[in-house]
Amino acid sequence: MTRLRFAVLGGTGKEGSGLALRWAAAGHEVTLGSRELDKAGRAAAELNTTLGQNSVRGMVNRDAAAQAEVVVMAVPYAAHASTLESVRDVVQGKVFVDVTVPLDPANVRRVKMPAAGSASLEAQQLLGETVRVVAAFQNISAEHLKSLGREIDCDVLVCGNNSDAKNLVIELAQAAHMRAWDAGPIENAQVVEGLTSVLINLNIKHKVKASGIRITGIQRS
Ligand SMILES: NC(=O)c1ccc[n+]([C@@H]2O[C@H](COP(=O)([O-])OP(=O)(O)OC[C@H]3O[C@@H](n4cnc5c(N)ncnc54)[C@H](OP(=O)(O)O)[C@@H]3O)[C@@H](O)[C@H]2O)c1
Repeated sequence: MTRLRFAVLGGTGKEGSGLALRWAAAGHEVTLGSRELDKAGRAAAELNTTLGQNSVRGMVNRDAAAQAEVVVMAVPYAAHASTLESVRDVVQGKVFVDVTVPLDPANVRRVKMPAAGSASLEAQQLLGETVRVVAAFQNISAEHLKSLGREIDCDVLVCGNNSDAKNLVIELAQAAHMRAWDAGPIENAQVVEGLTSVLINLNIKHKVKASGIRITGIQRS
């Protein structure tokens, strides 16, 4: 696939930095976004050390989003609306990948969706219809992402209303050594986001850090 210019908002965190690491390793141009420029720079330097090359940069979220072709957001749900607001005008017309799960800090084991239906539906409403919002990676533990180069034993369900944008995200998942499936319109992300609480229950019960899901019954290409 062609080299893409990415921003990962919340890219200093566990999930965002793991995705950024894998996409930078696959040859994409990646910028980590943060609320603080220094923090973004430090996180980028750490990834560059791991990669053994100088290919990741750090910027504040808004600048990172403005210069990117594809914007990915992985922030805690408490920061979802404010981060979306801060980049709304600079992501118009772009593919916007929402990884956020609306976990309830009072009980992360129980599904609790926001009034909009899900975090990614909220993103679509807040950003407007010209932004191609794609919901993906919510069921992939950051534990897997940091083991660079290793195939991840979990599937990615990709939801959104634009087929080209979903196909791009499926290719990006493949570039990061994951299998991904088109799981239908953005409304279906409610189920995918909810599955994360199911996986958290399984992690706790079985004393593991990174359970995941697999789709069966379809020939793998
Ligand atoms: N961790 C996982 O295994 C995993 C798996 C699947 C999905 N997810 C989802 O991915 C999202 C990120 O998870 P994470 O574990 O990476 O979270 P995290 O490490 O706690 O936070 C990610 C980044 O979000 C920013 N942030 C934190 N609080 C904020 C606030 N109040 N306002 C604005 N920005 C704030 C911080 O960046 P700055 O301080 O640099 O701005 C932080 O580094 C969540 O929605 C989570 O449910 C996580």
